Amino acid sequence: KVGEDMPQSFDLFFVSSNYHKYKEAKKILHSFNINLGFLKYELEEIQSYSLKEIASKKAVQAFQKYKKPVIVEDDGLFIDSLYGFPGPYSSYVFKTIGNKGILQLLNQNRKAKFVSIISFCDDKISKSFEAKIDGNISKTQTGKGWGYDPIFVPKNLNKTFAALTNKNELSHRYKALKKFSSWYLRKLKSNGQ
Ligand code: IMP
Repeated sequence: KVGEDMPQSFDLFFVSSNYHKYKEAKKILHSFNINLGFLKYELEEIQSYSLKEIASKKAVQAFQKYKKPVIVEDDGLFIDSLYGFPGPYSSYVFKTIGNKGILQLLNQNRKAKFVSIISFCDDKISKSFEAKIDGNISKTQTGKGWGYDPIFVPKNLNKTFAALTNKNELSHRYKALKKFSSWYLRKLKSNGQ
């Protein structure tokens, strides 16, 4: 295809060490006509109960490093019967006890939610967008997916994120990026871009 080997120019960069998140974010933002590049870097994470505080500090750090408009994402899986655990510690818990460990901790009440924060930062503004999706933790792992995808079943659906074909049209990430996009595109327009 013409132009395939041409260097691409990106409007905005996603700074993360997690390629799965970037791949999904790129696809989602593409549907809103935003071309997202990837800067693979593990940002320092402050310890906080607030995902928003974690994400916004990371966005500022990322902008200071790359001097380009950036977004970063911080997520958490909050399980009702475990008082919101693992929440801000979702990444650590996934690496340690994993999906198998989570399944062993649960009984009847399997309600949970996924929360996503998208934080933007450029030379003028830093702003965060939050969204959640309610659901349940399945009884067994189903489907091949990353992270908690094989055990999270969105509300009113009967398949895990890993088994669904349209995760990127309904996920916490999709909802937060949709909010971000409408703000970002309005901002570009008002700047005459
Ligand atoms: P963090 O934002 O990198 O701290 O990620 C929190 C944890 O939630 C990570 O361990 C991810 O594996 C997990 N996670 C976040 N979003 C998703 C998702 O869409 N599917 C599955 N796991 C996710």
